[in-house]
Formats: sequence, structure tokens, C-alpha cells
Amino acid sequence: MSRIHVIHENPAWLPPLAAALEQRGLPWQEMFLHTGAFDLAAPPPEGIFYNRMSASSHTRDHRFSAEFTAAVLAWLTRWGRTVVNGPRALDLEISKVRQYAALEAAGLRTPRTMMVAGRGEIVAAAERHFAGQPVILKPNRGGKGLGVQLFHTIEGLRSHVEGEDYIEPVDGIQLLQHYVQAPRPVITRAEFTGRRFTYAVEVDTSEGFELCPADVCAIGDAACPVGETAGRPEHKFTVIEGIDPGLRGRLERFLEQAGVDVAGIEFIAGPEGAPLVYDVNTNTNYNPEAEARAGIAGTNRSGMGALAEYLGALLAGSQRLAA
Ligand SMILES: Nc1ncnc2c1ncn2[C@@H]1O[C@H](COP(=O)(O)OP(=O)(O)O)[C@@H](O)[C@H]1O
Ligand SMILES: [Mg+2]
Repeated sequence: MSRIHVIHENPAWLPPLAAALEQRGLPWQEMFLHTGAFDLAAPPPEGIFYNRMSASSHTRDHRFSAEFTAAVLAWLTRWGRTVVNGPRALDLEISKVRQYAALEAAGLRTPRTMMVAGRGEIVAAAERHFAGQPVILKPNRGGKGLGVQLFHTIEGLRSHVEGEDYIEPVDGIQLLQHYVQAPRPVITRAEFTGRRFTYAVEVDTSEGFELCPADVCAIGDAACPVGETAGRPEHKFTVIEGIDPGLRGRLERFLEQAGVDVAGIEFIAGPEGAPLVYDVNTNTNYNPEAEARAGIAGTNRSGMGALAEYLGALLAGSQRLAA
């Protein structure tokens, strides 16, 4: 039987998609990729495949799930199977540097970034390129904001990098990035389904979540935003009307060029108001509470609703995956 096969490694993120598929009576099956065995000479099961392998899979003790998925996607595509978020999407999911290259190639701006391999290189690189400026340290293969930290001083960065809590990035590459101070403490995350804009949410960052964990602030990183926060925002995620049409067009063109079908793309308003794009999530989750407040929960305009409709159309053959 022809089905929608959902490639993933985190069962906790599956129920909302499962509900949307089942609500529409679509046949589906999960393809949990941590361990497994596949015969390269045998055809894969019938149907279409939706890859939602996550860049943060290694943080759930699935160290090689992303690598295994790349191999499985090669097998699927060799047999001519339709794969939503195929090999090129996975390639971007696991590398911010490759995301930035693809974004810039599509005319989008990204924050000024140094890539650094080697723990011993980080502080010197920051001194050379970001002297006197706040800097963000984040792993090249990231996800969920894990390991993303803001440092206002070189001393704060040094004590972190030389300290016991320092974690080596899983692919060996760290990014040092210009800290973009937005006019308001928000970032925008625009969701795309089938390479078309679905909706956007504003995310309140005033709590400094994941940016500056309290233990790092405690070791003398002077102006930590956690300390400056006056009260919690009422809602962290809010669905907004839309985004600038020019930006929307450029983001859609980027998805076309990069071969990405489903994504949540994060950007921040830069000092001159020009948006800086810093994160492309090809495995995207949606905030149910924000969708409920916007009155789109459970409809075709919700994230999972739009996704289930798209996957259903591909399965039925009424829509073809863009080349
Ligand atoms: N250059 C930056 N300037 C300001 N804030 C940033 C910057 N980079 C990341 N952040 C903040 O940290 C969060 C997590 O960083 P992100 O690059 O999205 O990593 P991840 O892939 O782990 O989600 C962002 O949503 C944003 O709030
Ligand atoms: Mg992010």
C-alpha cells in the first residue's frame, strides 16, 4: 500500500503531525531512523517520504541518526521515490555554514559569522574579529537553541571556552556571530510548506532563553540579558499578519534554489531594519497555543494542517514535488 513515510528520530515531535494526517484519513507510517537495516538492492516501500530528521538528534543519544538518514535518502532517491525535504534539505539542516552560503546565494543577508574549528582558536578569532563587541557562540550543527550563548566580553567567552562546561560541537565547528540587537526583543520565524509561505510567528526573546544560561552569566559575563529581564512576556509565540512581501519572495526563491520543501526560517531585524536570516529549520514544529489564539488550530491554515494537506496531495499524485 502506498503511504506517507515519516522519517524522524524524536517520537515526542510526532503526535501533532500524526493527528493532522489521521484527521484527513491519510495512510502513514513512521520510519524511525536510529538503528535499522535496509537492502540497497531492494526497492523501498511504496509511497512518498517526508524527512524530518533533526540537527539536534545527537542530543537525544542518536549520534548517527543524521548520517544514517543521509544514507537512507540516497537509497530512496536512487529508487526514484519522492522525498519531501530530500538530501539537499538534510545537508542544510545539519550545517549553518551551508545554510548561510545558500541564503546569501539567494540574495538574503546573514549575520557576520566566523567559523572556527578547534577549541584553542575560538578566543583569538573573537579578539581579531569582534573585539569590543558582544558575540554569539553557537554550534554549526545546532537545534533548539542548545549551546547558543551570548558573551559581552572576551573574558566571559574565554572563561566559558576554557571552562569545564564547554561542549565540543558534534561536527567540530563552532560559529562566532555578530550579536544582532533588534529594535524590539523579538525574532520572526516564517513557516513554509511546499516552498510557499504558510504563516509567521513572532517569538519574544526578552527572557534571553538559551542565549545566556544563568550559570554562564554567574561567571562574570557582565551584561547578561537574563539579569535585565523585567517580568515574563504573556505569550512567547504570536502568529503575525504576514511578513514583508519582498522578503517573503526572496525566502521562497531560496527554498526553490536550495531544494527545501518544508522549513521554518528565523530572522531578526538588523540595526538598519534590514532582516538578517540566521537559522533554517527543515525539521519544523509549530506552536499550538499561538495557532489557537490566531484561530487557525486544526484548520488547513495551521502548520501541521498545511503540511498534511501538502503530503496528502503528493501521495495522491495531484501535486508534484518541485525539481
Ligand atoms: N546573531 C544573533 N543575534 C541575536 N540573537 C541570536 C543570534 N543568533 C541566535 N540568536 C538567538 O538565539 C536563538 C537560537 O539560535 P539559532 O541560531 O536559531 O540556533 P538553533 O539552530 O539552535 O535554533 C535564536 O532564535 C535567537 O533568539
Ligand atoms: Mg533556531
